[in-house]
Amino acid sequence: MLRAIQLFIALSIVVLSATACGQRSDHSVLPVSGSSGMVAARVKASAVVGAEVLADGGSAVDAAIATGFSLAVTWPSAGNLGGGGFMLIHDASRDEDIAIDYREMAPRLATRDMFLDENGDMNSNRSRFSHLAAGVPGTVSGFGLAHQKYGRLPWKRLLQSAILQAREGIVVSDDLADNLRRRQQRLCREAAACGYFFRHDGTPYAAGDLLVQADLAATLELIAEQGPDAFYKGLIAEKIAAEMKRGGGLVDLPSLAAYKPVVRAVIRGSYRGYEIVTMPPPSSGGVHILQMLNILEHFPVAEMGAGSVDTVHLLAEVMRLAFADRSEHLGDPDYYDVPVSWLTSKQYGEELASTIDMQAARSSEDVAPGVEPVHESDDTTHFSVIDADGNIVSNTYTLNMSYGSGIAVAGAGFLLNNEMDDFAGKFGVPNAYGLLGGDANSLAPGKRPLSSMTPAIVFDNGEPWFATGSPGGSRIITAVLQMIVNVIDHGMNIAEASAVPRMHHQWYPDVLMLESEFSPDTIQVLRQRGHDVKISRRGMGSVQTVGSRDGVFLGATDPRRSGAGAVSPDDIPAH
Ligand code: GLY
Repeated sequence: MLRAIQLFIALSIVVLSATACGQRSDHSVLPVSGSSGMVAARVKASAVVGAEVLADGGSAVDAAIATGFSLAVTWPSAGNLGGGGFMLIHDASRDEDIAIDYREMAPRLATRDMFLDENGDMNSNRSRFSHLAAGVPGTVSGFGLAHQKYGRLPWKRLLQSAILQAREGIVVSDDLADNLRRRQQRLCREAAACGYFFRHDGTPYAAGDLLVQADLAATLELIAEQGPDAFYKGLIAEKIAAEMKRGGGLVDLPSLAAYKPVVRAVIRGSYRGYEIVTMPPPSSGGVHILQMLNILEHFPVAEMGAGSVDTVHLLAEVMRLAFADRSEHLGDPDYYDVPVSWLTSKQYGEELASTIDMQAARSSEDVAPGVEPVHESDDTTHFSVIDADGNIVSNTYTLNMSYGSGIAVAGAGFLLNNEMDDFAGKFGVPNAYGLLGGDANSLAPGKRPLSSMTPAIVFDNGEPWFATGSPGGSRIITAVLQMIVNVIDHGMNIAEASAVPRMHHQWYPDVLMLESEFSPDTIQVLRQRGHDVKISRRGMGSVQTVGSRDGVFLGATDPRRSGAGAVSPDDIPAH
C-alpha cells in the first residue's frame, strides 16, 4: 500500500509537470542535489554514514566501505559481512575503471552434485536453507582490497559508525519491522539468528524499538582492529568454522584462508554514443546489459515512448534473447571461457535485432518447463557514491535471498549467505529466481556462482554521468537496463527514471511481468501480441543512483521501498 501511494505521488508529479509544460520537463520528480558528492543507499542512516566519511575528506571508496559496513547493521536482509558482491570503481585522477569481484567462492570440499538427493533430484532446501548453502563470504576481503587500493582515511574510521550502530542500537523502522516479521519462520529455525533479530520472548520488534546487536559490534571491532585477516584467519574465522561444524556445512578454516577477491577488467560498451562501463563475469548482468543495448540500438525507442506497448514488447523480446544466452554461456571466467566479446559485439546485437517481430511475442516453450519466479524479496542491496573529485563507486552486494540461509554464526552476530543456490545444482532445474544454467555454471570447489548483480556507470563524453544498480535477482539486470533506457532514450532525470513502472522478462518462465501501474489498455494489447502477462504487486527492483550533471552532484532512490536515502555531504553538520 505504502509503495502504491509513493509511486502514485511520484508519477502524479511526473504527469502533472509534463502536462503543465506541454512536454517532458526537467522539473518533475527531482533528484537530491549537492555540491560536494552524494551517497544513495537502501537505508538513509547508512547513506548518512557514507556522506559523513565524504565530509571528513574520505574518497568515494572510503564512503562506500563505510556505507557497506553500516548496511550490515541497518539492513540485515542484504547488507552483510557473511555474503559477497561486486564493486565497480571509477578513479577520476587516473581516468581508470576497475571491478572488484568479491563474490563468494564454493568451499574446498564442495562437489558438483552435493545438492542432489539419493534419487538424483535437486534438494533446494539444502542449497538454500542449510549450512551447506553458504559459500565462503567475500565482503570483508573485498572492502579490504578496495581500501588498500583507493582508501584515504584509516580503515578503522570506516567501521566506526557501524560499530556504534550495532553497539548502541538502531531504531527499527517500519520497513525493517515488516521485513523481519515476514521472515520470522526462516530466521527462527535456529536459536542464534532468532536471538539476534527477535525480542527475547521471540516476538518481532515493532517500529520504534531499539535493535542492539552486541555480537555484531564485537565482530566489527575485531575487523576494525585487526583488518580482514580477523575474518579469514582469526577469531571470526574460528567462529564460522565452529558454526559450520555444528550444522554440517563446508566453510572450513582452509577455505576461509584461501578466499581472494579479484580485480577484474571492467567491460565496456556504448549505447547511442554514450559509454557504458559495467561488471564482467561472474556477473551475468554486465554482459547482458551491453548485449540488450546493442539490440535496442536498432529500434527507435525514444519515438516509441516510455511505457508504450511497442517499447514494452520490444524490451520483453530483447530480454528473452539475453536470458536464453545467459543459461548457456555465462559462468565464473576462472573456470569457464565466457564468450564476452561475441555476446557484447555490435554484430551479434544486429543479428538478434533482425529476429524480433514487433507484432508478435515469440514462445519460449521449446525449453524445459518452468516455475513461477519467487516473489521478489529484498534479497540484495545496491549503493552508489560519488565524491567531490568525481570518483565513483557502484556497489551491489548480497546474502542471496533475504537474510541468506537464515543461519547466523553463533557468537559473531551475522548471517550466512545461501549463494550456493546460484550454481546450476542440476541442469534444467531453476534456482530461486527461476533461472536456468548449464555446465558453465556447474558447481566446483573454489568456483564463484554466476550472479545477476549489475553495478553500472554511464559516461557522457568521457565524464561520469550516473552510476546505478539494483537488487532483485534476475530482475536486477532488467531494472538496470530500464534505468539506462529511461535516461538515454526517454530523457528522464535519474529520479523519474527510478520511479516509472518497470517490466521484466527472463525467457523462462515465458511470462511478461509488469508492475501494476501499466494501463489496462497496454496490458490488453500486449496479451494480443502473445505475451503471457502477469502483474507484480510488490514492484521490481530498488535502484540507488548517483550522478553528476553541469557540476552538480545528484542522487535518487527508488520510491518502491521506503526508508532509502540520497545524502550529500553538504547536509552533514560540521563536527
Ligand atoms: N544472488 C543473486 C545474484 O547474485 O544474482
